[in-house]
Amino acid sequence: MDILVTGGCGFIGSHLVDRLIEEGHKVKVLDCLEQQVHKDGKPSFLNPEAEYIFADIRDEEKTKESLEGIDVVFHQASQVGVGQSMYQIQKYVSHNSEGTAVLLDAIINSRHKVKKLIVASSMSIYGEGAYSCIDCGLVYPALRSHRQLQERKWEMLCPKCGKIVKAIPTSEEKTLHPTSIYATTKRSQEEMCLEVGLAYKLPTTALRYFNVYGPRQSLNNPYTGVAAIFLSRIKNDKPPLVFEDGKQSRDFINVADIVSANLLAMKKEEANYDFFNVGSGKSHSILDIAETIADVCGKELSPQVLNKFRAGDIRHCYADIRKITEKLGFEPKVSFAKGMQELIEWSESQQAEDLTGKAQEELKTRGLAE
Ligand code: UD1
Repeated sequence: MDILVTGGCGFIGSHLVDRLIEEGHKVKVLDCLEQQVHKDGKPSFLNPEAEYIFADIRDEEKTKESLEGIDVVFHQASQVGVGQSMYQIQKYVSHNSEGTAVLLDAIINSRHKVKKLIVASSMSIYGEGAYSCIDCGLVYPALRSHRQLQERKWEMLCPKCGKIVKAIPTSEEKTLHPTSIYATTKRSQEEMCLEVGLAYKLPTTALRYFNVYGPRQSLNNPYTGVAAIFLSRIKNDKPPLVFEDGKQSRDFINVADIVSANLLAMKKEEANYDFFNVGSGKSHSILDIAETIADVCGKELSPQVLNKFRAGDIRHCYADIRKITEKLGFEPKVSFAKGMQELIEWSESQQAEDLTGKAQEELKTRGLAE
């Protein structure tokens, strides 16, 4: 099949391109080579068998051109820094929401033969995850108040009775409650694609990625995920800086499993006009991540627990993966231990510039972190 991957030079997109080519597809990539991610221009890992159009998705002509002859579109292009999205609001809305609008306009207003659209959504659209209260059962608390955070009461409280609640897997049924501009743009991408898909009978699927990690994750971008940030600190012999008490948790899913979910979404009719969580279904505390990475790197660096918070951070969220398992037959294959080992082995051949201090200062001056 002829396939377009927007954002195909990025961390997730490039792995997807490799797998599609391995499976015999003809792949085109539309990517603007965002400077923050690709400091030295084209990354060395780009698959030479793909065709590349280096352009911004908001460039109507180039986006239209990239759709010529395409059967399937994987829309992965996005600006990805959550904190940064809170002070570069227009940039995030423009690239992510308007960029998706340009893509959809091009699909519906030009002659094309696109038969399937798969869009990268995110768990960030849920806001806080799902919780269970010993007395009130399933609850969906809102973000912790500023006051609660200032009192260093890190755990979530039941919105009905105020008792401490326990995180449980978050399913697709949870009401969406984005807590950052980034998350709002991800929600808009998911909803716009599904709405247009349904109206024009173009089978569309949204995949809600949980915290993705793996080789090719940028080690120089202090705005990306925590595993890469910790790895970059450790490689520079600096202790990982852990917010809150370190017991906050996330669901870490290896990039190879994310790619497999995308392929299932492409192949299975059961995926059409629907949205799915893509996670491991397991939760890991952030402190555990910091310790595991330091340990596997063989460095005696104890994580520094800051007891400070970032605005908008959720406490816990991990995926209920029953829907994607039952409907698409998805099964995460890469264990956390093996995946982390692989990430660290890959990082040995990489330069890592630790810019987390700079990113933190930026958040602090804007009152978005302590
Ligand atoms: C991340 C991604 C988001 C993606 C989502 C789902 C980023 C910035 N966020 O959101 O794009 O949609 O996963 O895949 O890439 N932490 C520390 N020390 C640090 C950095 C982070 O303790 O130096 C903590 C944070 O306070 C938070 C946790 O680690 O509790 C996770 O943070 P982060 O990696 O930024 O991810 P998410 O907000 O979960």
